[in-house]
Amino acid sequence: MSEVTLDLRGVETSRAYAELDGHVRAVLEGITDPITAMATVSCLVHHAFGHLWTGFYRVVEPRLLRVGPYQGTLGCLEIPFGKGVCGTAAAEARTVIVPDVAAFPGHISCDGRSRSEVVVPVRDRQGALIAVFDVDSERPNAFDERDQLGLERILGWFTGH
Ligand code: SME
Repeated sequence: MSEVTLDLRGVETSRAYAELDGHVRAVLEGITDPITAMATVSCLVHHAFGHLWTGFYRVVEPRLLRVGPYQGTLGCLEIPFGKGVCGTAAAEARTVIVPDVAAFPGHISCDGRSRSEVVVPVRDRQGALIAVFDVDSERPNAFDERDQLGLERILGWFTGH
């Protein structure tokens, strides 16, 4: 196992994600437990970029998200599908990038310092939605398509890709 928590601030974003993806795969070698993987991905993504909040909301009922492994200040415990950015990403099963959380109707503010965020759906090997991955930043407009692609690639681990 590669027992290193990378700090990739200062590395060009696409390169940083490529390196991080390789690192995540190496650390998770031989692991099949999704909660272990969620904890590991939260830790590595959070510290690689110095985000404000990084973690998973798991699908626990057909239309309910409950907080899973994360890094950061206290997160909301439950979010219904359709509510906030996480609930929207879950209900629509698509990645949502929010450059300005103040302009997103129904945004749920768990940490008042959050200015922008990206939320990515997480699927299992059968293609079922099992969670969303939420990354929040203190910086406005912190995320773009490179983050979407990079995070979707890392989260492909859960689908077996
Ligand atoms: N940003 C989320 C809420 C969860 S926390 O910020 C940890 C949302 O509006 O979906």
